[in-house]
Formats: sequence, C-alpha cells, structure tokens
Amino acid sequence: MRVIVLGSAAGGGFPQWNCRCPVCALAWDGDPRVKARTQSSIAVETGAGRWTLFNASPDLRAQILATPAVQPRGLRDTPISSVVLTNGDVDHVDGLITLRERSPLTVYATSQITAVLDANPIFGVLAKDVVTRTVVELGRPFSIDDATIEFFAVPGKVPLYLETEDLKIGDSSGDTVGVDVRKDGRRLVYIPGCAVVNADVRARVDGADLLLFDGTVFEDDEMRRAGVGAKTGRRMGHVPIAGEGGSLHAFDGVKLGRKLYIHVNNTNPILVDGSPERRAVEAGGWRVTEDGLEIVAGDPAAASLMDRGSTAA
Ligand code: MLT
Ligand code: MN
Ligand code: ZN
Repeated sequence: MRVIVLGSAAGGGFPQWNCRCPVCALAWDGDPRVKARTQSSIAVETGAGRWTLFNASPDLRAQILATPAVQPRGLRDTPISSVVLTNGDVDHVDGLITLRERSPLTVYATSQITAVLDANPIFGVLAKDVVTRTVVELGRPFSIDDATIEFFAVPGKVPLYLETEDLKIGDSSGDTVGVDVRKDGRRLVYIPGCAVVNADVRARVDGADLLLFDGTVFEDDEMRRAGVGAKTGRRMGHVPIAGEGGSLHAFDGVKLGRKLYIHVNNTNPILVDGSPERRAVEAGGWRVTEDGLEIVAGDPAAASLMDRGSTAA
C-alpha cells in the first residue's frame, strides 16, 4: 500500500504567513536545518493507479503540482477518486474547493462533517451530480477501490469556527475521527488530530504496519511560550508529544510497525533537524514526516522522498 505525504504541517503551514516565532524565523531566513511544509494531507493508492486523499488541504493545488502520482493522465482524467475527511477544520476541508471543475469524486465523512459541508453553500461548487457526499458511520468498514476503510472516534472537538461557550474537548462523538485503512494485507492508521491517547486509541493502533499521528505541538504550552497565542495543544484538541500523557511514549508496548508524526505546528521544534526535541522523538522510535515522503506500508525499507523536481507524470 503506497502512501504519499502531500503535506505534513498543521493549519497555517510552515512557515505560517504571519509568524516569526523562533521556528518560523529559521524558515524565513533560509536556515538549512528546516524545510517548508504545506498543510497536512496524505494520498493513499486505494486501487491500481487510483488515489484517495485523506483530507483536502488549502495547499492542495501546490501539492498536486509537486506529486506526479496524482496529476491528470488524460483529458479531464484524474487519478484522484475519493476524499476522506477526518474532521471539519479549515486545513482539512478547504482544498475541496480546489477539486471543483466537474470531475467525479466521492467525499466520505461522518454525519457531523457532512453537515458542515451541507451548511456552507460555497461547497456547492462541487456539483452534486458529479461529487457524491457519502456519510460514514463509525466502526462500519466500507470499500474504496481495493481498500477497506473504517472510521473510529478519537477524543477531539468540533472545528474551531463552530466552537461555543460550552465546548467539550476530548469527547469521542465523531467530530474528529481516525481512519483505519487495509489493503493487500497491510494496515495504515491515520490520526492527524487527537486530544488524548486513551486505551481505545491504543487498541485501534495495535497491529498496524504504519501509524501517522498528530504531532501538532511538542510541549502543551508551546504556543504560549513562543508568544504566539494563549491556547494549549490540548485546548486545540491536540495531545502534546512530550510530558505526562504525551504521545511520545503513549504507544510504548503497542504492537506497531512504523510511527511518524504529521500535522506538525510551525512552533514545534521537531521541525528543526538536529534539535533536542527532534532527537527525543527519534530516540522514542518516531520519525517526522515531510512533504513528498512516500511510504510503503509494511515495507520497513521503503520510505523515500519523491523526486519533486518535475511535474511530469
Ligand atoms: C487545528 O488542527 O487545530 C486546526 O487546524 C486549527 C485551525 O483550523 O486553524
Ligand atoms: Mn488542523
Ligand atoms: Zn511560527
């Protein structure tokens, strides 16, 4: 099962347009220890030459330009057959608007996320006679091409723009989901947002060949310390990597092939090659994704950077 990381950063990307936090400043200044990253999304080859996007990032057009596997093959012929949404945040749904122009697609999402799309008339640019919205129930496997997909609830929250005074963080109601993807006897678990690693999350990940997990912040209060905002990682629905309950050691003892962080916020020092935080996650058995990383689930040797120099298919 081929997996391509189209984008590896959290909402805002890296560097973020309005930010010179210590990590963004390195990117603006061209420091070779950091690489720019677009907002998180992966493409999975769910059938021969057929690709499913897991989330549609605001950077989707640039991601397609950089990724031959998902470029058009003929007159109005795209290898992208489906889009799976794990929540309704802007960094995960905005790219749907890039996918207008009347190519047949199916968008798979929970009832909550589908309701967000239905309530926002701008998504009507995806004409309903060509783009099907399919509501997925948690815990009920379904097929996309040759892959079997299952949604499962993870602790999370509603999208930022739907937050209210009585916001609940960390309930597993289906506002944020993880996805289990099985194909060719291999298993990928994709969880780009998760507020708590509890026993349910650990059980879901058990036995996977590949885990791509929420790497938004290293320290829970990292954004406050960087002076860019008051919210903690947990308040944003993102368990930190370090500290008590952090994801770094939360999967210790779980049977797992490879584990990589994705959806990394621009304040997170794991973005810096050779930083103590990068070394700490690597010592814990994690790798940090970058844009263009191609991984073959189940093949420990196969993780390489695509040749991004060409846009030819
Ligand atoms: C998040 O992951 O917390 C969101 O992407 C925040 C946002 O929508 O900016
Ligand atoms: Mn996000
Ligand atoms: Zn920044």
